[in-house]
Amino acid sequence: MSSLEDIPTPDNGFYVLVTGANSGLGLGIGKRLIDEFLQTRPQSESLVLIVTTRDQRKGDATIENLQQHLRKVIASHERKLPGIAQVLQHRIFFRQERLDLLSLVSVQKLCRKLRETTPKLDVVICNAGIGGWTGINWPLAVYKILTSWSTAVCWPTFKISGVGWVAKPQIPAEMKVEEPPLGEVFCANFFGHYLLGHYLAPLLAKHPRSENTKGRIIWVSSLEAYEHVLDLNDIQGIGSTLPYEATKRLTDVMAITSALPSTCDVADEYLDQSQASEKTTKPRIYVTHPGICGTSIVALPLILEYLMFTAFYVARWLGSQWHPVTVDKGACAMVWLALAQQDTLDNMEEKEGVGKWGSATDFWGQERAERTEVAWWGWGGKSAEYKRKKGRDPYAKDATKESRERFLETGRKCWEEMERLRIEWEGRLRRAGVGIEME
Ligand SMILES: NC(=O)c1ccc[n+]([C@@H]2O[C@H](COP(=O)([O-])OP(=O)(O)OC[C@H]3O[C@@H](n4cnc5c(N)ncnc54)[C@H](OP(=O)(O)O)[C@@H]3O)[C@@H](O)[C@H]2O)c1
Repeated sequence: MSSLEDIPTPDNGFYVLVTGANSGLGLGIGKRLIDEFLQTRPQSESLVLIVTTRDQRKGDATIENLQQHLRKVIASHERKLPGIAQVLQHRIFFRQERLDLLSLVSVQKLCRKLRETTPKLDVVICNAGIGGWTGINWPLAVYKILTSWSTAVCWPTFKISGVGWVAKPQIPAEMKVEEPPLGEVFCANFFGHYLLGHYLAPLLAKHPRSENTKGRIIWVSSLEAYEHVLDLNDIQGIGSTLPYEATKRLTDVMAITSALPSTCDVADEYLDQSQASEKTTKPRIYVTHPGICGTSIVALPLILEYLMFTAFYVARWLGSQWHPVTVDKGACAMVWLALAQQDTLDNMEEKEGVGKWGSATDFWGQERAERTEVAWWGWGGKSAEYKRKKGRDPYAKDATKESRERFLETGRKCWEEMERLRIEWEGRLRRAGVGIEME
């Protein structure tokens, strides 16, 4: 964990926080950010990459891994332009912090520390997550892959989920405070990040209006964010047989509606807009997904891991655009959203509507950020956008005026429920004497 002396605060720093940065996509995001930042941002800007992990050992290993990557990148720049290494070395700073999303107090502790030690934040990438799966239905997997290869490895129906999983208690038993169950997959994938975004909103808002840029919260969703899995009567998915997918649908619905007039008032409260001034700008929430990448989110023995990678590459060669396969390519959409000029994003949204951005590749593995269909909403909530058929879930239905209205209504209900839950948990932790006050 960073001690106060080694917390980097360079002039003209661009501050990005990535959760779950020690493995899989999180590590891919860190490396790609370094590459693209050095290539696209002016020499006067420095990147401060704040990585969160669950323990010090993982944090140290992550920093070492990123430093090694940086050395390689700098060496390759130096070969092309001798002398540039001196400049580049001083443009990337690393910092590590502890975060366990299954502990709301851990989220509060980290945010309090960041608020006390960090001048501002530019981007928070909410990447960490768990699958909550207990295994794979192998006969079904083999049958599905052999009969509809690309669909089977894009929208798999053979993962078996744990049902009824709840997070460990948030309040020590000796405090004798009753607490309701908190869905484990819900808390790790969504609710922990939800609180994180709320407490970090004041740091993300620290962009004077004149800068014409906004702090960004980037939520990481999935292709598997099916509409039918989100049950508003069990929004935490505790009784669901697809709790992972339910958290991803919740992510899509809430991120997209966060920017729309029907929900904006609740989202403004969440984004702590009470102190808005000329010196601040309301942060934005964006939603992304990495396509399909081979990571340990599905734990497999080595031989099956090789087979998984093979199945993913074959799917790409059979025409699936959603198989980046490697995490550096899977990180494309998140890093693009993190570094894109605000005007670019705003203009695209004005033209195409608010949507979900995924990492896609062509046959040769050339990656790009690509709009992705969201059930009931479409690609941008506009009518007449169904020319874009590529990359659709084969069971997707065209969005209609009615479905878009249902989407907005669901978004509002979800936002109201999440705000209620946040305030309720904050009060409970405070009353138990374990909650951390922010100021
Ligand atoms: N891989 C894909 O094809 C794919 C597809 C769609 C979406 N995604 C999304 O991409 C994100 C990253 O997944 P991945 O595939 O890279 O999986 P991964 O390799 O298993 O990485 C997950 C990361 O999340 C961290 N994490 C898990 N539980 C946590 C908690 N309670 N508190 C803090 N950190 C926690 C893990 O830390 P530990 O090492 O400490 O466990 C790890 O760093 C997830 O949100 C996932 O849903 C992945």
